[in-house]
Amino acid sequence: MPKIRKAVLPVAGLGTRMLPATRVLPKEMLPVVDKPIVQYAVEEAVASGIEEIILVTGRGKILIEDHFDRAVELFETLSRRGRTAELERLLAETPPPGVIVATRQQEPKGLGHAVWCARHLIGREPFAVILVDDLIEAPTPCLAQMIAVHERTGGNVVAVMEVPPEHTSRYGIVAPGKDDGRVVEVRGLVEKPAPQSAPSRLAVIGRYILLPEVMDELARHEVGAGGEIQLTDAMAKLIDRQPFHGLRFEGRRFDCGDRLGYLEAIVAFAAKRPDIGAAFRDILARYR
Ligand code: G1P
Repeated sequence: MPKIRKAVLPVAGLGTRMLPATRVLPKEMLPVVDKPIVQYAVEEAVASGIEEIILVTGRGKILIEDHFDRAVELFETLSRRGRTAELERLLAETPPPGVIVATRQQEPKGLGHAVWCARHLIGREPFAVILVDDLIEAPTPCLAQMIAVHERTGGNVVAVMEVPPEHTSRYGIVAPGKDDGRVVEVRGLVEKPAPQSAPSRLAVIGRYILLPEVMDELARHEVGAGGEIQLTDAMAKLIDRQPFHGLRFEGRRFDCGDRLGYLEAIVAFAAKRPDIGAAFRDILARYR
């Protein structure tokens, strides 16, 4: 079975839910404590064995590529000033050349279209997709948990979690089949259904392992929910042809595209930091 080597990170979205912060700043560059959101996703990918990260960007998103480059002036200055610890951290966090590549989604036509923009870079092998907004704190990286399921089933795998019934219209929702409480067979997928027509409360969270045939479905450019080319619709077409499972991953997910979700992520990550965690928890206590 081919190894999962590549991950697509769609980062072309406008981030309208975080305006005005995202007027010029890409939403993926907003920091959670002291690291931009996109860096968490890149680190999760690398820790899960991914060798090539494909950013699907858009106009105004060049800062994301710059972030993973060597900032020569900064690095030289840190070195001259003897600030070795900071310099070493930055160097360690800079992916080697060729690991991050970028292509552009030229029009905002939906998540399915964004993934399709990476088709030539993916080729004919199974690959991962990470939606950067969904920040996941987990003992084992969420993507690594999913790769383990893929290695067992040989098929498509999506991350899933139960959501309140009134939230089904925010997510892709799974019609579940056989379910062992952790891995659930996916029998159907619906993008953002109203609560009364949702097949379950099991929502797809932004992590996917997909077989290359999904690209053939995306190439049809069929428009779905919200007038967009939906990844969910293309995946739904694969269900009868290929194994398809949902993984109730171990870990906690924060929706960083949303104000409250983003703030909660900052609190959760800051509170557990060895350097500032205790002091931060003291500060928080003052706001009870
Ligand atoms: C996207 C997907 C949806 C999925 C969600 C997870 O929606 O279309 O199926 O459940 O991400 O965060 P978006 O949040 O881009 O509207």
